[in-house]
Amino acid sequence: MPKITILDIYKKKAEGKKITMLTAYDFPTAQIVDQAGIDVILVGDSLGMVVQGVTSTLPVTMEEMLYHTKLVTRAASSAMVVGDMPFLSYQTTKGDAVLNAGRFLKEAGAEAVKLEGGAQMAEVISAIVAAGIPVMAHIGLTPQYVHMLGGFKVQGKDEAARERILADARAVQEAGAFSVVLEAIPASLAKEIHEMLHIPTIGIGAGPDCDGQVLVLHDLLGLFDRFTPKFVKQYVKLKDLALKAVKEYKQDVEGGKFPSEEHSFK
Ligand code: KIV
Repeated sequence: MPKITILDIYKKKAEGKKITMLTAYDFPTAQIVDQAGIDVILVGDSLGMVVQGVTSTLPVTMEEMLYHTKLVTRAASSAMVVGDMPFLSYQTTKGDAVLNAGRFLKEAGAEAVKLEGGAQMAEVISAIVAAGIPVMAHIGLTPQYVHMLGGFKVQGKDEAARERILADARAVQEAGAFSVVLEAIPASLAKEIHEMLHIPTIGIGAGPDCDGQVLVLHDLLGLFDRFTPKFVKQYVKLKDLALKAVKEYKQDVEGGKFPSEEHSFK
């Protein structure tokens, strides 16, 4: 299967076919996502919370993101890989932003980057795109702005906030983003953005009227249970299954049942 490119993403939108996106952070999970035929793998800075166990995405570094992106690109034979730019890797100067975005492609093998922010990031997006790097924008609830937003809260609930988010959507499209993630906004606002833009909208907690959907893989698989946002659908409880398996192993070892002859050399 050939690699999915931004042209395939545009084509899906044009044909009215839904775009699928999931996070992955390492080789085995990226293999599962890729083999399931998901279009885009996001190496999200959500790995801070679901892999590293910290309480926000703010501590995640460029070196950590590059490391995880490398693990994922080794497994992604058809899915397009998007590297998520971590906090302070693009907010300082346009030069920093272009260099750091470029490292995702040059050193880790990603095909695009994602960054958070709307109108205030338009010039940064333009600079990265001018360097030949596709950019996925991310507006609405932008977790790197958690302290400005006063927590992980649904955005765009009153008229002024709706207008700001609509302006952000227009700005990132004009700046050259090839798609935009809409996180935690009312479904009616996401529908309005979807109808207004020509670039694909990828929703997470933004209702059904987006061109595609994204979830954090560990939420979908039931591997992360510190908290579960309302917009998550858990398809399996993998943590419970894994816990059961590990407890059985413990019992087998303690009871002398493992290893048996079957798992021993003659
Ligand atoms: O970091 C991440 O996983 C994300 C998605 C939730 C869109 O930004």
